[in-house]
Amino acid sequence: MKVLVAYATAKGSTRGIAERLGSCIEGLGQEVDVRAATDVSYVHSYDVIVLGSAIHDGQWLADASDAVERLRSQFEGKRVWAFSVSSVGVTSTTLSRRLARLLRRVTPEPRAVQLLRDAADVRDHRFFAGAIAPGDWPGFGRVVFTLMGGHYGDARDWSDVCTWAGTIAAESTRDTERRT
Ligand SMILES: Cc1cc2nc3c(=O)[nH]c(=O)nc-3n(C[C@H](O)[C@H](O)[C@H](O)COP(=O)(O)O)c2cc1C
Repeated sequence: MKVLVAYATAKGSTRGIAERLGSCIEGLGQEVDVRAATDVSYVHSYDVIVLGSAIHDGQWLADASDAVERLRSQFEGKRVWAFSVSSVGVTSTTLSRRLARLLRRVTPEPRAVQLLRDAADVRDHRFFAGAIAPGDWPGFGRVVFTLMGGHYGDARDWSDVCTWAGTIAAESTRDTERRT
């Protein structure tokens, strides 16, 4: 079973999550490559593809959406998993907890994930909270972030990241056993 974890990041927190997903999946006995989405042209040699991106303005970064377009014809027969890294994850957030609860209910999937679902067998899409530093937001965004009860820092929940990696590894093992 060979797994590719591909990611797009602006400030590095998504790369950190991709690397941790990779090491957790590897720890469960699978062979894993972790690569920037821009460096991926072929996925033929992988059985499982995990593709993720930082969220800017509600959407995946162009590097990740471009990868969906570029690779879509190669996804047939592969198991694909998607993740998004934003201010609000399933288990943690850089915003106020009350606002995060609301946003979890109403935030739509990024368009690139919807396109991915059209092209591939997407097993799951998960939101993780990332990290944010005072200089990251442009001027007005910084004001809105403060009004939304935002706090700077690293909200990545490593335990949730590794639990999700475990789900990917377990389902991949089950699929392989079913095929043999
Ligand atoms: C310009 C900009 C736009 C952002 N837009 C959103 C957004 O629309 N929704 C959200 O939840 N978080 C948003 N964020 C927060 C980032 O998604 C979050 O900080 C993430 O961890 C960034 O990942 P990276 O470190 O891999 O670039 C934005 C951050 C920046 C700098």
